[in-house]
Amino acid sequence: MIRILGISGSLRSGSFNTALLRSAQALVPEGVTLEAATLHGIPLYDADVEHRDGVPPAVSALKSRMQDSHALLLATPEYNNGIPGVFKNAIDWLSRPPADVPRLFANRPVALIGASPGGFGTVLSQAAWLPVLRTLGMRLFSGGRILASHADKTVASGGEAMDPALRAQLADFLKKYAAFIDA
Ligand code: FNR
Repeated sequence: MIRILGISGSLRSGSFNTALLRSAQALVPEGVTLEAATLHGIPLYDADVEHRDGVPPAVSALKSRMQDSHALLLATPEYNNGIPGVFKNAIDWLSRPPADVPRLFANRPVALIGASPGGFGTVLSQAAWLPVLRTLGMRLFSGGRILASHADKTVASGGEAMDPALRAQLADFLKKYAAFIDA
């Protein structure tokens, strides 16, 4: 069984990215599980806090979930053509202490998906993740893209059905990502 941990980079209750991730849970191929995590409870990174108290409990909990999975799926919003601070902050915490980076990040498969009500579907935010994932030594899936544009119409939020074309694209993406993880 391939275990993927999905992380949504939005804290918003009506988040399109969380909705996209939840839809993906229902679309994974046989032999794959997709858990969905959010970033609630992760404080702003503060080196003084880290030196005094170590990594906060919400970060430790997410690190454990990463350790228990084989791969990551990041559902990223786009803010000002870049990575939302909330999401980057969480990855920065997760990369502490640096001694844990080889165990948690190095060679771990990772894929990006994203949703935006705008017309470009987080393309610039997904591009902005690349140097971060490279720095952490991750194995990026680049065999497909999910750029869910016009998410207010195409992504299910609050139970409406997702756009059928996007649903099919997401299912295909997940199938290819699972094969990439397994390879
Ligand atoms: C945005 N949004 C946005 N959208 C986009 O496609 N490109 C962008 O550069 C930005 N910039 C941006 C900046 C800030 C500060 C906010 C708050 C929003 C809109 C954004 O895509 C929209 O709020 C989404 O709904 C955010 O994702 P969730 O919360 O729905 O997952």
